[in-house]
Amino acid sequence: MTTLARLNALPKAEIHVHLEGTFAPETLAAWAAQAKVDLPRPVERLFEFAGLANFLQFLDFASGLANTPERLAQLAREFCERLARDGTGYADLIFNPTHWHAWHGQLPAMLDALDAGFREAEQDGLPPVGLCVSLLRTQTEGEAVELVELLTRLRHPRVVALSVDGNEAAAGRTGPRFASAFAQAKAAGLRRTVHAGESSGPEGVRDAVELLQADRIDHGGRAIEDAAVVDLLVQRQIPLGICPTSNVVLKVYPDLDAHPLERLRQAGIPVSLATDDPSLLGATLPGEYARAQQHYGWNDAVLRAVARTSIEASFANADVKADLLARLARW
Ligand code: ADE
Ligand code: ZN
Repeated sequence: MTTLARLNALPKAEIHVHLEGTFAPETLAAWAAQAKVDLPRPVERLFEFAGLANFLQFLDFASGLANTPERLAQLAREFCERLARDGTGYADLIFNPTHWHAWHGQLPAMLDALDAGFREAEQDGLPPVGLCVSLLRTQTEGEAVELVELLTRLRHPRVVALSVDGNEAAAGRTGPRFASAFAQAKAAGLRRTVHAGESSGPEGVRDAVELLQADRIDHGGRAIEDAAVVDLLVQRQIPLGICPTSNVVLKVYPDLDAHPLERLRQAGIPVSLATDDPSLLGATLPGEYARAQQHYGWNDAVLRAVARTSIEASFANADVKADLLARLARW
């Protein structure tokens, strides 16, 4: 068996991946042609990005083209097909309503359209998915509270968590701004996952833990710049969803030598691997494991521990977790 085939067969979950990062270039080209709008670049170079800010702008363009329930259900279905292809048994999928311009003010209808795609996929034997509905860093405190109040009223069974993503560097310090929304989410039984330590430094990671009560951090790499923040993550055993390919493509780190993944793992923080925006950034989940294995010389025990973290840190229900952990023990 090749290395990649073994890592494909490794039972694992994905806990840091965005619906906005899953568009195929041909789909976007077809939708843009139908809408008679120009692509920002020729289709062969469509997924070339100057950095995080430019990338986030592209998410608005791409998501804006998904203007029917059928298109949302198609994206949901294709996401589940990707999970099955990658040997991923479950995913928490981040979905940020602000990027989807055709649907503003219609979150319940969006959730239903996505849910229809996930439900049909699951009935066909594809892996289950939970949705993490995300705030954008640049939103206001009022908008954040409004979203949580809507989620609390809806209690949509597909929604497992509140998330926050976007550009921390463009928004300044936002922990205090979003603290009450995250507290309300916790009181309503929602889990919490927070982007931090990508475009913010270690102080963003500390705020995620102390002010937003994060169960989990998306990225978190820059925690390494402050030993006290590393200690905080170790003490509280807060898992990180690390995305090496994303961090290199979006120029957070020049290469894997500079990436803190291995230092964070060796410090005792529970790390897992993830793709962030798989189609747009050219990442697959087995590929991320293969890259880390090659670069850091990980043996099977390390690979198994990282996969176990991905399952245990996920917001999957107890049955899904137990099944994946049992399969992992047999790997
Ligand atoms: N939304 C999608 N991908 C993201 C990333 N890498 N950082 C922040 N927000 C995002
Ligand atoms: Zn992300």
